[in-house]
Amino acid sequence: MPLEHDIDRILISADEIQQRIRDLAGSINDAYTDEDRPLLVCVLKGAFMFLADLTRHLEMRHEVDFMETSSYGARTESSGVVRILLDLERNIQGRHVLIVEDIVDSGRTLDYVTRNLETRDPASVRVCTLLNKPSRRVIDVALDFVGFEVPDEFVVGYGLDFNEEYRNLPFIGVLKEEIYVESPEGDAR
Ligand code: IMP
Ligand code: MG
Repeated sequence: MPLEHDIDRILISADEIQQRIRDLAGSINDAYTDEDRPLLVCVLKGAFMFLADLTRHLEMRHEVDFMETSSYGARTESSGVVRILLDLERNIQGRHVLIVEDIVDSGRTLDYVTRNLETRDPASVRVCTLLNKPSRRVIDVALDFVGFEVPDEFVVGYGLDFNEEYRNLPFIGVLKEEIYVESPEGDAR
């Protein structure tokens, strides 16, 4: 059965995503110069598609690097214990870092990543997230560039997964509740 059948409704269409990314890239183009040569830190895996589309609209000289994190705990709540599964290749001392995230939910992952990177003595750390779910925030985190605010519903597509699936959908959609209620894994978070 096609993956689309597991989607309750489309929240943000592929066209809306692409349009908003052009706006975000415009703001980021205004915020950095060639001399800044920012390093975009893509938080894997969820942000891979967002980074790929965003970077194509950036006009200043920049680099990309990747970090993978995982948080584990109860089925519906991240524990707050965030592990780094893959660390940056580059030293970021003196660099302007732009963290690129898929979604900020409780804020625990971003809080951990931001603090961790700040210990490495970068010139600056800013955050760009495609989605923001402010209703679920547990830790207050500063967001510099935000694509869309989403309601308190579990969303998938455009890089975001449930049990590693649905990342390839070109839109952001709400997953049918029966999908994660039926799953032995429970909630993906
Ligand atoms: P945090 O709760 O802000 O630490 O978010 C941790 C991670 O959970 C995010 O980076 C996403 O990978 C994932 N996540 C949170 N909410 C959703 C959602 O609605 N759909 C898919 N993944 C999510
Ligand atoms: Mg993420």
